[in-house]
Amino acid sequence: MSCIRKSIHRLETKFSHPSKLFLIKHKFIPNGRIKLGGDKSIAHRALILSALSSGKTMLNNFPIHDDALATLNALSALGVKIRHKGKVVFVKGCGRQGLKIPPQPIFVNNSGTTLRLLLGVLAGMNFKTKVVAGKYLSLRPMSRVNVPLRLMGARITASIKGNEEYAPIVISGGNLKGIVYHAKIASAQVKSAILLAGLFAKGKTQVFQRFSTRDHTERMLKLFGANIVLNNNSITLNPNQDLVSPGKIYIPGDISSAAFFIVLASIIPKAKIIIEHSGLNPGRCGIINVLKRMRAKIKVVVFKADKSVNFEPRGDLTINSSKLKGTVVLPSEIPSLIDELPILMVAACFAQGCTTIKGIGELRVKETDRINSMVVNLRKMGAAIRVIKVGGQENIVIKGQGRLCGSELRSFGDHRTAMSMVVAALAADGESSLDDISCVSKSFPGFLKTLKSLKRR
Ligand code: S3P
Repeated sequence: MSCIRKSIHRLETKFSHPSKLFLIKHKFIPNGRIKLGGDKSIAHRALILSALSSGKTMLNNFPIHDDALATLNALSALGVKIRHKGKVVFVKGCGRQGLKIPPQPIFVNNSGTTLRLLLGVLAGMNFKTKVVAGKYLSLRPMSRVNVPLRLMGARITASIKGNEEYAPIVISGGNLKGIVYHAKIASAQVKSAILLAGLFAKGKTQVFQRFSTRDHTERMLKLFGANIVLNNNSITLNPNQDLVSPGKIYIPGDISSAAFFIVLASIIPKAKIIIEHSGLNPGRCGIINVLKRMRAKIKVVVFKADKSVNFEPRGDLTINSSKLKGTVVLPSEIPSLIDELPILMVAACFAQGCTTIKGIGELRVKETDRINSMVVNLRKMGAAIRVIKVGGQENIVIKGQGRLCGSELRSFGDHRTAMSMVVAALAADGESSLDDISCVSKSFPGFLKTLKSLKRR
């Protein structure tokens, strides 16, 4: 058995035993063509708006992972009829007023997008719902959505520690009024919760943002016929919108999952990976833009827009190995690659020269504190990585050395830390181990299988 086959074999065997995952780097030159599961952010929105619309919706390329299933199960608990057959999901919409009182508290597992977007919907219901979260999500801040939803008229109680609110949350609503909200945090989840509540409000709802964030909710609302007006830095939703199903939605591949393979191909000499049908929403393409600035060889072929695909741009990516150079990432770019910052840190370690990523404080409140998880792991691998506080802002500075060394790595229970460290370990000199990889089921259960498919034949 070749070394890489041996290493991938071990990857696989250990995956079914979520104790310890061993990785060995030995001339793994990823080469091949992959197609990834549907975009997680789009899947949540497609389910929610399908449920609130009139008519039936068929969702194609639906990703079967813990987070998407959390939204699916939450909507089922609210009485929405949903069937899924592999990657195809059928939703029978019940209209804006058709949700039922759930028989018991809704459990959203560790899906932050499920919880925050669902609160926007539940704010419009004139019944009381308790929402309970898993152990990681229960540690994530919720005031950011509770505050604007209360301004709209929702009644919310949450668990309080210090100045912050956390799940479990009890919410009852109905009789909402539209608000004009100037969001302090650049968050698509907050914006989306407000817009979804706006569907049930009297008067228009307007959200202003300092930096633009992914606009999947806005695009999906338009697709379902809502009256939504977009300006440079504001979104206005006009009231009392009945949503009409477009019938079929094709969910493009998840660019956040693609990011691990874009970096893998970029940092391993002689590698080449083609990623088919990736979502290319401009609010998500930060990883491509920044890596290209670092001289990554990424060719993007955008599909010609037609009716069925025009709600979200998509295309194919071809990535060839390259010699990366350091760069500076500005705070205004952060929302467009917020989930890709861990894997960008890995890329920066393999670059020549310094990479500075500015304004990354939001990483502290993701599934884990991703500044901590990445600094701890990358330092163990020999990276020169520092966190610098400038005023109220946190920056990361990485002095790229073109290499990392194998080590004993930890996932911290976080899917994106885990996958970033697998990529780092495959490109590093020597052997690495990772304590637990079962957390990838949150967004990408097929990660190791996809990796294995790239072994050179
Ligand atoms: C998401 C928005 C981002 C992102 C998360 C998914 C979404 O969170 O980190 O994984 O689907 O709206 P924030 O909006 O809190 O930055």
